[in-house]
Amino acid sequence: MNKDFCSLTALFAAVLLAAAMLPMSCNPALPATPKDLAQDALLPRPVSLEATGSSFRLTEKTDIYVEAGNPEIERLGQYLAGLLNPATGLEIGVKTTEEAPPSGHIYLALNNNGPELGPEGYQLEITEKAVNLTANQPAGLFYGIQTLRQLLPAAIEQQEKQEGPWEIASGTIRDYPTYPYRGAMLDVARHFFAVEDVKRYIDLISLYKMNMLHLHLSDDQGWRIEIKSWPNLTAKGGSTEVGGGAGGYFTQEQYQDIVQYAQDRYMTIIPEIDMPGHTNAALASYAVLNCDDKARELYTGTEVGFSTLCTTKDTIYQFIDDVIRELAAITPGPYLHIGGDESHVTPMAEYIPFINRVQSIVAAHGKQVIGWDEIANATLEPNTVVQYWSKAENAQKGVAQGAKVLMSPASKAYVDMKYDSTTQLGLSWAGFIEIDTGYIWDPATMAEGIGKENILGVEAPLWTETVTNIKELEYMTFPRIPGIAEIGWTPASLRDWEEYKVRLGKQKGRFEALGINYYVSPKVTWGE
Ligand code: ACM
Repeated sequence: MNKDFCSLTALFAAVLLAAAMLPMSCNPALPATPKDLAQDALLPRPVSLEATGSSFRLTEKTDIYVEAGNPEIERLGQYLAGLLNPATGLEIGVKTTEEAPPSGHIYLALNNNGPELGPEGYQLEITEKAVNLTANQPAGLFYGIQTLRQLLPAAIEQQEKQEGPWEIASGTIRDYPTYPYRGAMLDVARHFFAVEDVKRYIDLISLYKMNMLHLHLSDDQGWRIEIKSWPNLTAKGGSTEVGGGAGGYFTQEQYQDIVQYAQDRYMTIIPEIDMPGHTNAALASYAVLNCDDKARELYTGTEVGFSTLCTTKDTIYQFIDDVIRELAAITPGPYLHIGGDESHVTPMAEYIPFINRVQSIVAAHGKQVIGWDEIANATLEPNTVVQYWSKAENAQKGVAQGAKVLMSPASKAYVDMKYDSTTQLGLSWAGFIEIDTGYIWDPATMAEGIGKENILGVEAPLWTETVTNIKELEYMTFPRIPGIAEIGWTPASLRDWEEYKVRLGKQKGRFEALGINYYVSPKVTWGE
């Protein structure tokens, strides 16, 4: 309907003193409720935000327009429609366009928006008439979509139709991450988690703009990834878990399905094969991996540090080459994690040449090594990443060799630690980690001599000795995960606990709409 027709209709209607009867369809933008963008509790907090005091309303006429000729942006448009349609019931469609769309719509486009936005940043401009989301790269559009989600009422996350109105406060957000690596780790070895659980976790952490999921695929209690050239690893080594349950494993096809699901959400999967320690499941599967050529018993307890591959045998390196080759072939991301932690029964004189040799195997298969901080005792390849979990001294040794550090200090970032002494699940060897403790730290000041320029990013590991299912996983990770996500995304200068605890509390409605089994911490000001 064109504007002239609308004006004439309006005039006619006014003359008849029937303005109230004016058909809604003539009004390109419904009266917007004044709204303050600055009051919206975005998490992570964006780098810059300017509020303009009105709002955009989604209506039956709203569509998502995407730049023509780019299937990836069209896919992102469909992803956004899939987020908006169940709760709004508005049947928002996706249309391609050569230029900016007419008023009343959402528009997604790539645009050279300035180098500071980088590959993951975005600009979100909201007026009464339009929502324009632009970014240098598709990943930026994905993160802008997560922001847009959080600007709508929490009921947007429901899967059944809800009452509107669906309004978004107006203004401009320009936003980009502080660190390129913002991740979580899931231990599927101590307790196995099914593909559907991993996908749900990917969805939950991507809402907070995390972009890495590290899967701890092997440990003493289980081997969880099919290796076709060594089938007993899963046939035997995958057959149990902590407590003696049935365990399980991912076939290579299932693993690739997870990788693709993550990739569609701009998330990289980092597979870990922990070695030379934490290997009892492999040692039970193949006698040849042991120095005495005797297969070990399967193990379902929770002690650490008792197992080691026989690092002085050549067969071990053939084994590792096969495992890394198969894993590298189904892992598009740049990293393979080789563990390297708590190898208490591997003499240091054997551990160092072992780590050196494994680094070259990983490099030969075109991947970059990440290892727990103990690997810094070896001679690091130029692009090897050291994951700081325990000893600053190790991380410092890594930095002295030019390595980047991934920050997962156990006393801050280990989401398997209990919240306090009353928490039923979890461990406490690194202390209790309440929401404030898990939030109030800066990766760039955690360890002397390790500054922002040395840091790749942050990761929150969930070890699962005590965590047996997705509901328990959610309880331990929420609401600590959004805090780690913010530490990775938001500049330290914009982070403040007193302000954060209110903003986090306002995620309550969203957590509930998403059905998250979160910990209702007394430290947080919970609100709508
Ligand atoms: C670890 O927690 N053993 C890396």
